[in-house]
Order: sequence, then C-alpha cells, then structure tokens
Amino acid sequence: MTRPVTKAVIPAAGLGTRFLPATKAMPKEMLPVVDKPAIQYVVEEAVGAGLVDVLMITGRNKQPLENHFDRVWELERTLEAKGDTGRLEAVMQASDLADVHYLRQGDPRGLGHAVLKARQHVGGEPFAVLLGDDLIDEQETLLADMIRVSAEHGASVVALMEVAPQDAQKFGVATVEAIPGHDGVVRVLDLVEKPAPGTQRSNLAVIGRYVLQPEIFEVLARTAPGKGGEIQLTDALLELSRTGLGGGVVGVVFHGRRFDTGDRLDYIKAIVQLAVERDDLGAPLRAWLKDFVAEI
Ligand code: UTP
Repeated sequence: MTRPVTKAVIPAAGLGTRFLPATKAMPKEMLPVVDKPAIQYVVEEAVGAGLVDVLMITGRNKQPLENHFDRVWELERTLEAKGDTGRLEAVMQASDLADVHYLRQGDPRGLGHAVLKARQHVGGEPFAVLLGDDLIDEQETLLADMIRVSAEHGASVVALMEVAPQDAQKFGVATVEAIPGHDGVVRVLDLVEKPAPGTQRSNLAVIGRYVLQPEIFEVLARTAPGKGGEIQLTDALLELSRTGLGGGVVGVVFHGRRFDTGDRLDYIKAIVQLAVERDDLGAPLRAWLKDFVAEI
C-alpha cells in the first residue's frame, strides 16, 4: 500500500546572491509579489494540495520568515480597533495557514543538503519539496497531480518544463522516455545538473516541485558535493533513477505558468502578471501599461 503524502519541505536557506543587495539582510523568499511575500504563495500551494505540515529549512536572516507566519497581536488589535476587517483578515491568514516548523540548515551546502536536514521530521513517508523561490500559478494543480502520480507509480516525482536551449544551463536537465498510456508522465533515465552550454541532451528542465520517496535520504547522506561544490539533489535523484531505489524517478511535464522569483526579470514579470489579473489593481494597471508600452 502506498503511504500518503502529508508533509511539505520548503528549502529557503539559499544565499540569494542573484538578488543582492536586496537579500543582504532579508531572505529572497520574503520579497513581496504584489502584496504577499513569495513564500506565502508557496505555503498556500502546499496547503491547497492537502499538506498542512510544513517544514521550512532556513538560514541566516530567518526571522522575517518566522515572524510572517506568526501572530502579531499589536497589529491585529490596532486593525480591529480601526474596524479594518479586510486587512485584519489578510494579516491573520498567513498565521492560520498551516503548521509551520523551522529548521536551520547551518552551512548552506546545497539543495540536497537542505533536503537531508528534513530526514528526522519526515521519517519514513513520501513527502513534497517546494522551492521557496519558485512560484507556480495558483490555478495550476501541479503538486496535487504529482502526489497522485507518485502514488500510482510508487516512485519519486519531479516536475519538468520545456525550456529554451540557452536557458538549460540554469537547471537540472532530464533525459526521459514515455510511459505508454500515461499522457504527460515520463520515466526519468538521466539527469544532469546545470549542463555546460550546448551539451544538454533534452529541453526538459527540472523545476522546483518534487514528491520524494524516503529512500532519497539514505542516498543524500552519501552524496558527495557535485556542481559548484554543493550537495546536489539532482545527483541523488540520478542515483534513484539509475538503481530504481524507491521506485525510481518519474516526471510530470508541466505546461502552466511558473516564475523564479529569485531571478530579477522573472520576479518583475510575476508581479506584473499577477497584478494585472487582480480585481483591485488589474484595470488601472492595464490602462497604465498600455500607455507606458506605447511610449517605450
Ligand atoms: P538557488 O539555486 O536559487 O540558490 O537555490 P540560492 O543561493 O538560493 O540563490 P542564488 O542563485 O544565489 O541567487 C534553489 C533553492 O534551494 C534552496 C534555496 O533557498 C532555493 O529555494 N537552497 C539552496 C537551500 O535551502 N540551501 C542551500 O544550501 C542552497
């Protein structure tokens, strides 16, 4: 019988160097996307997929993350006294979302190392990993689909997205084969972390959502530092796919909207796209954007 997925792990201990100096004293996951920090969208996505036990792997400057998901009594009391129920609800929503736990990574030795830190908390169950700076449109059902595929195939699952050849070097790249009768689901045969330009063997990039079998921990524990001197989750997944440990690795091919909020251009696109669709901001923003674009 397959064990249900109940826990989400959110690695948020990276240094965020692409966003310096904004991230000098603040985690990049706290950068606002319209009026919510990026991390709140990610926690909401986990909760939306039924995962209310969230473990955040944090690093230096972690306080803003903890504070954001905690109650702020004086702010709540002030808004209550003013009768500002809309903002009061918005403030309380973040703290009522999920059961959020925190663990310090210590040395930021890579994504694989961050995931390994979750071993004790997760135990022997399959679990989800959501990268704290990867934003998936809330209308998408990617994570729920991955959880279903993981149960169906008894395997670890990665999310794959087609990328332009010049962008492949920013991702883990997967070589795959179709699984007959399973549209949009593929078996992962090979994985290369950030291939050198022009050497990638496919256009399928691994994006920041995973459903992992607990066997990943024993592999991560013996995975040596790889690309960039970091312990790479990609290397551990490659071992699972080659050995078939924990049922191997399958991929769900995703065609929806995703933003890397740790990348400055993608971050700006995320804000514009989400704001344009909002009832409260969309109409005036669209009007302004039309004028602005006509002038540049
Ligand atoms: P990135 O590759 O985006 O690295 O990490 P980064 O350090 O956060 O950002 P840049 O590239 O310097 O701007 C991918 C994910 O893995 C987490 C990050 O927080 C991010 O969610 N991570 C990375 C850790 O939790 N620990 C690490 O040691 C490294």
